[in-house]
Amino acid sequence: MAISIRERRAQGALQRWLRRTALASIPMIGLCGCGDSCEITHQSQDGQTDGGVVWAAGSQHPAADCGPYCRPGYHDPCFDTVLTGCLAKNATGALTCQYEMTRCVPQPCGRLPAGLLAAAPVAPSVAGAELASRAHLEGAAVFAFDALERELIAHGAPPLLVERARKAQRDERRHHRAMSALAARYGARPAPVAVETPPVRTLVEMAVENAAEGCVRETYGAMEAVVQGETAGDRAIGKVMRAIAADEADHADLGWAIDVWARTRLSRAERARLDDACGTMTPQSYSPELTALLGLPPPEVAACLMNAIA
Ligand SMILES: [Fe+2]
Ligand SMILES: [Fe+2]
Repeated sequence: MAISIRERRAQGALQRWLRRTALASIPMIGLCGCGDSCEITHQSQDGQTDGGVVWAAGSQHPAADCGPYCRPGYHDPCFDTVLTGCLAKNATGALTCQYEMTRCVPQPCGRLPAGLLAAAPVAPSVAGAELASRAHLEGAAVFAFDALERELIAHGAPPLLVERARKAQRDERRHHRAMSALAARYGARPAPVAVETPPVRTLVEMAVENAAEGCVRETYGAMEAVVQGETAGDRAIGKVMRAIAADEADHADLGWAIDVWARTRLSRAERARLDDACGTMTPQSYSPELTALLGLPPPEVAACLMNAIA
């Protein structure tokens, strides 16, 4: 699928902005920044008792009682999800499970698929574990773009968006190999990626995920990769991150392009859901040694990058 000159220029503009913003943040490393408090949000999800429990309709119950019947739909390593309670919707056992979501995310958080199962790497060192976990997230992104491609097709998206989602899968495979090789230099091996892929979702569900995963996390991931490429203490890591940075900027651009397209197909209320999904995230802080080795933006710089995206 050929890309028009106008589309190519638009992609290039975002990539240049990401790079410029990320590079501008580098002199701030070591200085005071914009703060790094975690953001907490609340979500609810349907649940169901096993039929042996009878709760009055409208009654509220503590997390300890709801635990056996409430399970988050999927594991997302970018969120710390805690069940806070549940509300009995009716006398047949239907529940509204209530969760508190804390966004203090592991880095980098590129696009992650719904249904990603938790996995621990095999690693003899902190650096190896971090690189292996990053390799795992790169592998997970392959599944995320595969799901995105299927959902774009199902919702009649322009072929160019579908083709870009396909290309992103090839990019993420390459990132997975490169990051796995870096992890191996530190004696670590990433865990295999396991995903319980959900069925094709509605357009608004797809768009809400895209807003968080594509518009926010991939944009942040692209800027973080630029910083890593310039400042990583391990030159091999810097070289890999410089190559990854350009691809991630392209993926971020794809996220924004999908957002623009999806909004033309959604109602006003659905578009408001997208705006809510476009929150910010607060990256996790690491030890100074690991931060220097991987070239990660310190929390105060990361917070400023997030402000720039917002
Ligand atoms: Fe990637
Ligand atoms: Fe990506």
